[in-house]
Amino acid sequence: MSVAVTIESVEKRFQNFPALRGVSLDIQPGELVALLGPSGSGKTTLLRVIAGLEQAERGRVLFGETDTRELSLRERRIGFVFQHYALFKTMSVAENIAFGLKSRPRAERPSSAEIKKRVSDLLELIQLPGLEKRYPNQLSGGQRQRIALARALAIEPRVLLLDEPFGALDAKVRKDLRAWLRELHRHTGHTTVFVTHDQEEALELADRVAILHDGRLEQVGSPDDVYDHPATPFVCQFLGDANHLPVKVVGSQAFFQDRPVLGGLRQNQGGPASLYVRPQHLRIVDDAPLALPGVVEHLRRNGPLRRAEVAVEGLPRRLDVDLASQVAPAIGERIRLRITHGNLFAAA
Ligand SMILES: Nc1ncnc2c1ncn2[C@@H]1O[C@H](COP(=O)(O)OP(=O)(O)OP(=O)(O)O)[C@@H](O)[C@H]1O
Ligand SMILES: [Mg+2]
Repeated sequence: MSVAVTIESVEKRFQNFPALRGVSLDIQPGELVALLGPSGSGKTTLLRVIAGLEQAERGRVLFGETDTRELSLRERRIGFVFQHYALFKTMSVAENIAFGLKSRPRAERPSSAEIKKRVSDLLELIQLPGLEKRYPNQLSGGQRQRIALARALAIEPRVLLLDEPFGALDAKVRKDLRAWLRELHRHTGHTTVFVTHDQEEALELADRVAILHDGRLEQVGSPDDVYDHPATPFVCQFLGDANHLPVKVVGSQAFFQDRPVLGGLRQNQGGPASLYVRPQHLRIVDDAPLALPGVVEHLRRNGPLRRAEVAVEGLPRRLDVDLASQVAPAIGERIRLRITHGNLFAAA
């Protein structure tokens, strides 16, 4: 039932504005891919091109071996949940879910008893049994989005496209629905593209994450791949906090202002480079050969951790340092920092 989706060199312009600039992506049958990128990066446009709601100027999209241009909208069998609430307000929950089935030509339409059964099975599946007779304005935001998903699933889609389905919900509900969707996907196994601009959501939910930036795919990989081995400075900074240090590489060492700060590099081209270091990869040390001196200027809470902001001479911005189980330093204290891990990129 689920199908592979192949996106080949897709380009899409609006007037003169290039919204997609040569995007290629292979999605396996049953895979859950998160499409992640900042606002305006082309996520919705790519989803609409896959759905056939938008025509690409160049490139093509295949479902299995078939060019989607050879398929009618109905034949594509797309389940789409849009970015903003999209339930029909004047229809009950049951009518909403059954919409795609009821609008099929008579020959393909299931009997009304079958439709009724399908609706109640789907409500069971999305863990909202018995809500058939409610209307959208009698549901919470999270319930509405689950109904929208049930409606998309009702047609037994070959491909499920979800455009920020939880975007309008509060953080706690989003987290619950994220785990719920992951579980639902394990049961149903639809080839799914999930759009989000929330990096945590993408990393937690997806088999693979595809990162869009200005209409280009910057990197595609497993959550661990893209987080631990970002291909570009953009990906590194977009996926989580990262401190930036301009360095110079000589041999296997990186130097910040003639002070060695990171060793054991495998890079063999020397010269100026950009080093990105996540707050959890900076450790306060008593003394170490490769340490960076600084002054603690501010302490703040960051989720479960405390974080220190450390001023380092020669850096325009303070370094963010996670204090895991370390004793918090005092404001004004002079400390030394050791970099335990960093991502190095050739200077632009
Ligand atoms: N119909 C249109 N006409 C003109 N420009 C458009 C049209 N649709 C999208 N764009 C432009 O294309 C770019 C990509 O838009 P898109 O909606 O794909 O972004 P997005 O990544 O989904 O952003 P968001 O996270 O805000 O939803 C934007 O700069 C947008 O202004
Ligand atoms: Mg969008």
